[in-house]
Amino acid sequence: MRVLLIGSGGREHALAWKLAQSPLLETLFIAPGNPGTALCGTNVSIDVTRHAEVIAFCVKERIGLVVVGPEAPLVAGLVDELEASGIKAFGPSKAAARLEGSKAFTKELCVEAGIPTAAYARFTECEAAKAYVRAQGAPIVVKADGLAAGKGVVVAETVEQALAAVEDNLGGGVPGAEIVIEECMFGEEASFFALVDGTNAVALASAQDHKRVGDGDTGPNTGGMGAYSPAPVVTAEIEARVMAEIINPTVEAMARRGTPFKGVLFAGLMITATGPKLIEYNTRFGDPECEVLMPRLKSDLLALLLSTVEGRLSTASLDWREEAALTVVFAARGYPAKPQTGTVIGSLEKATAMTGVTVFHAGTKRRNDGVLVANGGRVLAVTGMAATIKEARDRAYEAVHAIDWPGGFYRNDIGFRAL
Ligand code: AMP
Ligand code: GLY
Repeated sequence: MRVLLIGSGGREHALAWKLAQSPLLETLFIAPGNPGTALCGTNVSIDVTRHAEVIAFCVKERIGLVVVGPEAPLVAGLVDELEASGIKAFGPSKAAARLEGSKAFTKELCVEAGIPTAAYARFTECEAAKAYVRAQGAPIVVKADGLAAGKGVVVAETVEQALAAVEDNLGGGVPGAEIVIEECMFGEEASFFALVDGTNAVALASAQDHKRVGDGDTGPNTGGMGAYSPAPVVTAEIEARVMAEIINPTVEAMARRGTPFKGVLFAGLMITATGPKLIEYNTRFGDPECEVLMPRLKSDLLALLLSTVEGRLSTASLDWREEAALTVVFAARGYPAKPQTGTVIGSLEKATAMTGVTVFHAGTKRRNDGVLVANGGRVLAVTGMAATIKEARDRAYEAVHAIDWPGGFYRNDIGFRAL
């Protein structure tokens, strides 16, 4: 099969790396890709925001499946347009991607389907939102509606912080601005992934992300500074509850509404004293979670994605390696505010040659002279695999230390919750 993968991050390198191992794969294209995906297939420079260009490429290259990595093309309706042109695509429709694109939409669906989540209220009016914050007290959570790449959320410890967050979002009188204010939940966070074919959901695996930029969960939120899988907090019992109480009711509610969900459903969970509760949904693989899921997956990814697209997940079976995986994100100095690009990355071969190590590229670029340089915020995801999370961590850090990149930094404590 000829496959086109959309995206250019560490997640897409991990997907490309895994797709390239499929016996079903004939040719892999990645648009736009990065120097890592170039090792797994052919990068093509099409502008993926121009859907007609993507469709024309698929027709010309006889693409059998398009795999959409990031959220933006999903929310923009790329999958709908591909399907309308008779091209198979892995990922939700624009209507189903609202589970990620709109927090208010997801909250309403949770109420309708009885899915455990934080109590909430939505506001478009600044004074009304402030009055609600004063009445509820702190801690309290203020979220901008719409896509914010995990950065539009303020967990306010005090009423003053919450009022400031309300003011930031609604104070300017921006037309159409909307926020969700929620109850603060307490517990340990975990990411949980399931494949969904519109009707059937199959559990993939759990992982744990590290959203804050600094050691000990300090500093601003990022897209994710490291992850490991499985997450010990998601026991078999918790996983069964997540499927029964959160994932399956969501799949049923989406189908009932006439907007069935197809693709990968990524639940951000809080494992509270009374059980798992939904923080938010994403409608794609996580980054860097994908960089620990793919090395652990034994089954053929391409076969699974095809079963998802074709509505055949009820007969799919999944195999996982026994090992744990842990990834450390190597980011450009200045990330997340102002990452410094163009710095030279050396000795990558030393790291990639290590046993149990895979180095995924995210924001890298090859200069015309062939030298690898930083070209984004999160630049590399260095994954270690071993029998235990601790050994996987040791492998990942050993590889990180072997990379010669003074322009980069990383957290030193990835995996601390599990260790
Ligand atoms: P989100 O973009 O909704 O995933 O939120 C980003 C982060 O804010 C989450 O990963 C949590 O750490 C935190 N968060 C969001 N909502 C809540 C909540 N209701 N209670 C506690 N923490 C939350
Ligand atoms: N690592 C979190 C995300 O992909 O949204």
